[in-house]
Amino acid sequence: IGDGTLKEKLPFPIGAALNIGLLKNNSNYRNLVIKEFNSVTAENVMKMNALRPSATTYNFTDADYLVDFAKANGKRVHGHTLNWYKSLPDWVNNFNGTTADWENLLKTHIETVVGRYKGKVTSWDVVNEALEDDGTYRNSIWVQKLGVGYIERAFQYARNADPDALLFYNDYGHEYSATKRAAIVKLVTDLKAKGVPINGIGLQMHTRYNQTDANLAAAINTAVATGLRVHISELDIALNPDNNQSLTYTTALGELQAAKYKFIVKTFNAIPREQQFGITTWNVTDADSWIPSNYNRPDWPMPFNNLYQRKAAYQGILDGV
Ligand code: XIL
Repeated sequence: IGDGTLKEKLPFPIGAALNIGLLKNNSNYRNLVIKEFNSVTAENVMKMNALRPSATTYNFTDADYLVDFAKANGKRVHGHTLNWYKSLPDWVNNFNGTTADWENLLKTHIETVVGRYKGKVTSWDVVNEALEDDGTYRNSIWVQKLGVGYIERAFQYARNADPDALLFYNDYGHEYSATKRAAIVKLVTDLKAKGVPINGIGLQMHTRYNQTDANLAAAINTAVATGLRVHISELDIALNPDNNQSLTYTTALGELQAAKYKFIVKTFNAIPREQQFGITTWNVTDADSWIPSNYNRPDWPMPFNNLYQRKAAYQGILDGV
């Protein structure tokens, strides 16, 4: 399957979310990443629970490893994520501080992390998943402690630490909820209007083989209409969204998945080139996909199978351009 590699054939950056353990210890995985992708995102090692063992300490060992790997192999690094309501260390969830203490926590974390990787990390998901599917602000710990104004200040802190980094608002659900899509567009449009330093919008796009083309196109094209750069930031296409515990992978399902990958790539490739930040898949192979473990079901969401081989989905990606 396929002729050439993804990074050679696609006219925009193509990335993957990387598992640090596999990157360090599994040469099949590492070599596949080196061969196929030209952009990388940390699946977990740049999240707050990974970087912050305590209120006063940082552990950059794994994040540095990923950044050094990228540099050595000529890959762009997209940083994920400076602010999220999940993957927080317990000490943050239990942090007993004043409003000023919480603000300082947000500010210091962002400035320290972005500052460390200035010039090495091209772009950041500054805020991840601040909205609910019904378009309201998620009642996260950040909203509870700081109010929704934390969002714009997070962007400003990131900009202070790196004037050149591209700063993204990242979220999911653009393709299945028109309400959420509209709320995300309103959020980023308001931020832009206020002069908040935001450069792009990340569409996670954890989607499924039977999502409609119309919904997928609406997700991408609505984001494009903001004028911001667009990153399909966490793409995967589930084949078992109904959690059938005895489902098996078939050629027929693989072809449906390939067609959906193709449609997404084709739609993305048609947007103005200067708005194409890139497409990042969330993981590399079906063996390292987060979907089976997170949703406790068999699934095969990725373009490579558990033997590191190209699936029909891989050809679907190539066929999109
Ligand atoms: C997931 C990782 O893949 C898992 O390994 C981890 O246990 C939880 O986070 N949206 C995001 C990503 O923005 O950070 C999530 O990654 C998947 C959903």
